Parts: sequence; structure tokens; C-alpha cells
Amino acid sequence: MNDLSMSGVATFDAERVRQDFPILNQEVNGNPLVYLDNAATTQKPDAVIQAIVDYYRTDNSNVHRGAHTLADRATEKFEAARLKVASYVNAGEARQIIWTRGTSEGINLVASSWGRTHLKQGDRVLVSAMEHHSNIVPWQMVALEVGATVEAIPVDETGTLDLDALASMLDERVKMVACGHVSNALGTINPVEQIIGMAHASGALCLIDGAQAISHFDVDVQALDCDFYVFSAHKLFGPTGLGVLYGKLDLLHAMPPYQGGGEMIETVSFAGTTYNQLPYKFEAGTPHIAGVIGFGAAIDYLQQLDRRGAQAHEQALLAYAEKRAQETPGVQLIGTSASKTSVLSFLLEGTHPQDVGMLLDQQGVAVRTGNHCAQPIMDQFGIPGTIRASFAFYNTLSDVDRLFEALAKARQFLV
Ligand code: ALA
Repeated sequence: MNDLSMSGVATFDAERVRQDFPILNQEVNGNPLVYLDNAATTQKPDAVIQAIVDYYRTDNSNVHRGAHTLADRATEKFEAARLKVASYVNAGEARQIIWTRGTSEGINLVASSWGRTHLKQGDRVLVSAMEHHSNIVPWQMVALEVGATVEAIPVDETGTLDLDALASMLDERVKMVACGHVSNALGTINPVEQIIGMAHASGALCLIDGAQAISHFDVDVQALDCDFYVFSAHKLFGPTGLGVLYGKLDLLHAMPPYQGGGEMIETVSFAGTTYNQLPYKFEAGTPHIAGVIGFGAAIDYLQQLDRRGAQAHEQALLAYAEKRAQETPGVQLIGTSASKTSVLSFLLEGTHPQDVGMLLDQQGVAVRTGNHCAQPIMDQFGIPGTIRASFAFYNTLSDVDRLFEALAKARQFLV
């Protein structure tokens, strides 16, 4: 197959780990499935699926308010999952973990609650030029309301953030720097520790969108010293419709609720309402209980995995895919930063990404095509979008081979 014998490949048994993910064991369009769309969503291990089934079969009940055994069981598992997530990202306290619908809602919550109360006319919010729309549009919405501006920190032709430009942009009017930890479109790992330090030195807060980072390497929110960190459960082998907002306690305490309803109140009367304590102040309505419990199982699953081996394995997959890409006529990589996660974004000369994606799918290879909800960086590169293969630890070197075999056939057909 190839001569890669990097430590991750040698020590991490992806073939065994694959057995934990039942969806991977199927044929698509007459071919064994090769799932390379992990940046869009990751697959779920049996343990997660089983935890959700068990919850609905044995414990289904609302949390925090029932005076019966099922409600107690559901509440216990629900809050245990919060603790697991807090420990996974090394948050100081479980109440700093707010359940959201996903990364987008986490950013909307901060933009809406913190943004509306802290941003004013003339203030500036900096985001990177490679941000996902989720980390641009919520800031634009609040900026429009209050008369602030949203400005892009430049990115060079390799997809690397220009820190000198960031340094020159920072001034006392910058109140928030909101930046992706990893670019979903390019795979670039941004030097967030430096970015957070620079923002703080200038008096700004820093929100990190960790949606694309959290599945690839360990995140320690206290070591990073970020003010907010957001991510989605479904990109960390958990269920869809659930996300996490981590925030520093003093900031969360001072922020007004984002949505009103049940659960987020302490007392309600027509004379006035008082709000619940953290984290419930930000969790109006019945939460995604099954999702939270399933996510707890995902964290348990990851805790027993050789995560360093998984990370090395993913890097080996990326190195091999990049080598294959360089050897393949007509492939142009988009996003060649020195520091990347296992995302291969590329163009195939003389073809449209969507046509290539369709022909890959016909051969059982699942990738994403398009602008990846990162239109500004695509515009900067002067392209409508890319073909994106994104790897998880359950992918193998033979998945990479299948991708390039399928690409060769697509090229024969299209060019
Ligand atoms: N943001 C996800 C992606 O990059 C959906 O595919």
C-alpha cells in the first residue's frame, strides 16, 4: 500500500477502532463506504447509540423537576455528562459548561447576551478571514444593532493567520477577538494561545470556536485562558443538536439570559422575574436530555481511547493524503499551512467540485464539496469552493488510497 510507518500508524489500531462504529460497515452505491466527511459530522460509536437507546427505553423523563425515580435517574445522568465534559476540557467548574444546540448557538448566545450589553457604537470585533459563517454572522448582527464593526484578520495564501496584522489591528476599541481554533475549510490550526494573549494584552476578550479542533487534540480551556470556548457534540462522536459553551465564571455571571422560559428562572411574577443560577440561567426549556446522555457516553468512549495514538494516526493520514495529492496530476491543495489537522481541501483541474463529489459518492467515497460555510476565504482564494476530505481516527491509509483511486476515475470521466 505505502511505506508510511509513522508511530501513530504503527501503534494505533484503526481497524479495531472501526469495529466500534457500526455505520462504517456498509456498502454505498455498491462499494464499501469510505467516510471522509468528518469535519461535517463524525460517526457515533455503539456506546453512544446504546446510551441513547437505554435512556429512552428505561429512564426517559424530564430533568431537574420531577419528584419520581425516572426523573432522578435522568437528572443524575444529565448532570454527570456535564461533569464529564467539564473534566474533558479542564473547566474549573461544571456550571461553566452551558448546553446549547451546537457551536452556532453558543456563538449566538455570547454575541447576543454579552455583545448587546458590552458592545457600543464605534467598538470593533475582530474575526479571522477564514471563519465559518457561524463566527461571522452573529457578530455582524449585534454590530449592526449597536453600531460596532466586524473586521477580518488577514490570512495569507497558505491559509495561515497573519499575527502581525492582528497586532496592528488591536486597539482599545477592539472588545472581542473571535477566532476558530481550526479552520473547517482549510484545516489550519490557529495559534490560539498567542491570539488570546494578544487580545487580553489589548483589553479585549477572546472567544474560540473549537468545533473543528475538539475531535483532533486535547483542549484545556484554563491553560488557553480563553474567555469563551464553543463546540458541538456531533463533531466529537456524540449526537447532533447539542453543543457546549464554556465561559469564564465572572463573565457568565454578569451576562443576561439569552432566552426566556422554564428552567432559566428562579421566581416569576407579573411584578418581575428573577433568574436561575448558572448554568441553568442559559438553558431555557427542556434540554436535549438524550443527546446530553449520549454525549456523556462519547466522552467516556474517548477517555478510554489512546488519544495520543489517535492524533498521531490522523497526522499520518494527512501526511499520506498530501503525498498522494502531490503525485496526482491536476490536484491543487487549498490550505497548506504548516500547522494543520487532518483536512485535505483541494481542487481537481478542469472540474467542478460538485461533479467530483458526485462521482466519488458513486464509488462509495463520501466527501464534502462547496464553500464549507466559509465564503469569505473562498472569495479571497477566488474559488467557488473545494473538494474536502476530512479524516477521523477510524479512517485508514487504505481509505486514502480509495479516495485517490476514485479521484483518478472521476478525472478520467470529467476531463
Ligand atoms: N461546519 C461543518 C462543515 O465544515 C458543517 O462541514
